[in-house]
Amino acid sequence: MSAKVLILAAGEGTRMKSSRPKVAHELLGKPLVRWVVDAAYAAQCDEVITVVGHGREAIIPLLSKDSVIVVQEEQLGTGHAVMCAREVLAGSDGSLVVLSGDSPLIRPSTIEALIASREERDAAVALLTMRPPCTTGYGRIVRDDKGVAAIVEEKDCSSEQREIEECNSGIYCFDIPLLLSHLDTLSTSNAQKEYYLTDLIRIYREEGLEVVGTCCGDYTEALGINSRMQLAEASMLMQQRINGRHMVNGVTMLDPTLVWIGPDVAIERDVELLPMTFLMGRSTIGEGSVIGPNSRLTDTVVGKNCKVDETVSLKVVLDDHVTCGPRAYLRPGTHMCESSKAGTHVEIKNSLIGPGSKVPHLSYIGDATLGNNVNIGAGSITCNYDGVNKYKTTIGDDAFIGSDTMMVAPVNIGAKATTGAGSTITK
Ligand code: UD1
Ligand code: CA
Repeated sequence: MSAKVLILAAGEGTRMKSSRPKVAHELLGKPLVRWVVDAAYAAQCDEVITVVGHGREAIIPLLSKDSVIVVQEEQLGTGHAVMCAREVLAGSDGSLVVLSGDSPLIRPSTIEALIASREERDAAVALLTMRPPCTTGYGRIVRDDKGVAAIVEEKDCSSEQREIEECNSGIYCFDIPLLLSHLDTLSTSNAQKEYYLTDLIRIYREEGLEVVGTCCGDYTEALGINSRMQLAEASMLMQQRINGRHMVNGVTMLDPTLVWIGPDVAIERDVELLPMTFLMGRSTIGEGSVIGPNSRLTDTVVGKNCKVDETVSLKVVLDDHVTCGPRAYLRPGTHMCESSKAGTHVEIKNSLIGPGSKVPHLSYIGDATLGNNVNIGAGSITCNYDGVNKYKTTIGDDAFIGSDTMMVAPVNIGAKATTGAGSTITK
């Protein structure tokens, strides 16, 4: 089964009231359009083509190199968006899945099932329908004794048609050659004066071509994001999905509504996540660690049995049995070795904290290398910046740094050295 995917993402999204294009808005740290691209690849599709228009300078970089880009200069409707992809589709056969860039909750398994439902019967198109609690704004599915007869856009509906509860999800799987040979039959004679992709259903049926319509059990998969309210609703649904998966795998959450985990985070069993915890980017959490409350970890690798309390970290590595916080700020390049500690009101940047070393209270450690079992007294600071350049501090094994020591870099403090409280070390 090989299929191409066309993502429609040229619309403006005026209801977002934003200077950013709609599909560039983020859901759990990942742009909407990326969710759709990633779902397409997870469904084993072999090529993704994205139609962009409004705000495309902000969208194209989000697609990295894994989507062919097609530009729709003027947004003349969903049918017109597909016409813009004509050249890149020419000569292809097989299936084309059409997805919306603003429907990030679609599951890869649903895409695969849709492709299979078309290919099994060699139908001209398979479409995914849904029964949302509120049908406002959606195209209605008109059925007759042979199946789906037409999709009628809400603005074109008769009063009886408006009562129909089955709606168009906007997700389809087309036979490519038939799609390409019928695009010219679309017209703009409708309430919105647009080329409707949905008109193809009626046209196909009039020609006796087969149309398969399958209702999606979970309408939320097709939830389109048009407003900030819908963005919040989608975030909540995705949060439930992701947190549910981690709980099934053995992660404890005191209150899963207060834990936000990005899609690319890996968590081992017996991890406990306390309220107001955000795990983002490519973070990983090792078995038995407790994170939170009030912690935000991005691209952070946490070993086994760590305790991370009220901590903010970015691009950090914590080995096993590390303790952080409350109120630690760990910045890029920090590596805390086994059983080390970053305590209260402590900031560490671009530094190696050796095994068993402790920075317990009110310190700044930047551009430093600490050996094993170093103890940093309260209020000590590596003065790593002279206003022009940054310099390194090295502290040997078992050194004891007295409270309020200023280490003026570049400086080396040897193994087992002791500094008195309040010293300023310059060499
Ligand atoms: C569309 C369907 C409707 C369905 C609904 C599901 C049509 C005519 N109607 O309506 O039956 O129930 O989706 O959400 O297709 N786009 C472009 N270029 C354009 C127009 C749209 O790329 O010229 C993109 C938009 O950015 C969006 C997607 O296509 O990602 C859908 O367009 P939108 O205007 O939101 O269609 P709806 O009115 O919601
Ligand atoms: Ca829409």
